[in-house]
Amino acid sequence: MAKRKPLVILTRKLPNEIETRMKELFDAELNRDDHAMDRAQLEDAVKRADCLVPTVTDEIDKDLLAKAGPKLKLIASFSNGIDHIDFAAAKARGITVTNTPGVLTEDTADTTMALILAVPRRLLEGAELLAAGKWQGWRPTFMLGRRVWGKRLGIIGMGRIGTAVARRARGFGLSIHYHNRRRVPGDVEEELEATYWERPGDMLAHVDIVSINCPATPETRHLLNAGRIAQMKPTAIVVNTSRGEVIDEAALIAALRERRIAGAGLDVYQNEPNINPDFLKLDNVVLLPHMGSATIEGRCDMGDRVIINVRTFFDGHNPPDKVLEPSAASDSVYA
Ligand code: DGY
Repeated sequence: MAKRKPLVILTRKLPNEIETRMKELFDAELNRDDHAMDRAQLEDAVKRADCLVPTVTDEIDKDLLAKAGPKLKLIASFSNGIDHIDFAAAKARGITVTNTPGVLTEDTADTTMALILAVPRRLLEGAELLAAGKWQGWRPTFMLGRRVWGKRLGIIGMGRIGTAVARRARGFGLSIHYHNRRRVPGDVEEELEATYWERPGDMLAHVDIVSINCPATPETRHLLNAGRIAQMKPTAIVVNTSRGEVIDEAALIAALRERRIAGAGLDVYQNEPNINPDFLKLDNVVLLPHMGSATIEGRCDMGDRVIINVRTFFDGHNPPDKVLEPSAASDSVYA
């Protein structure tokens, strides 16, 4: 008798080729019109599915998991970070959690680099001025930004993404400083000529550009708070392509408004997509809509990882991207 295919429920639309393959391999329930599932739909999904494939926008919390049916054995997240999943609650119910590490690294590092360039060089402002028909031609004092070459970059969270940012940044003439829970291996430090700072505040006082590349965990929540922002140079900028929760947004907004720091480039926020409206009143920010890893190749690679994880799991083996501890479940691992 043919083995029953697992019921795999996808909470959002995925690339066509991934959905086609999922349909071939599993009893896959797709979200064809790509609506964001509400709570009732998520509850229905966890009640019926053998495997749920959520994304970063689905809140898979304890209460939701308490409603899971006995068949739910795998949450194969279409994401790198897993801060949207109550990992302890899943574990307690015997549900395995997988993510998609490794395949978002280069795209996210590219976006980080783009923000590192866009903020001090006023790229968005220039593009907006031209689009508004306000360009009156070149002049020596027009659109002056700040030089990137020769400055100091301070990376908070030297995991895969942080390291990929550092490699790129070296090519742009930046010297590398980093804070991480643990020091990276000597050969990596040597390759990047990176300086390790045990205390984030000490590093913040020393660098010109701060890049947040650590995951959101209880330990990193509001790591960049008012006190630490106060330690930054008035000419410094901050970029964040990790998670909004790592920054105390109210403190950041106040510092930007009062020009206590020079600017910010953000791709992630608390309460996405309902971002703090005060961000929109600032003229020294570049704000992106959580698109750091948004490439066609990246999304297909993520889908492939999900398929491998689901398939391996229901074949009775350990899926390659099984999350063992939540703080390690990120490309931008803060460890
Ligand atoms: C993830 O998968 O964690 C990312 O935030 C998506 O860009």
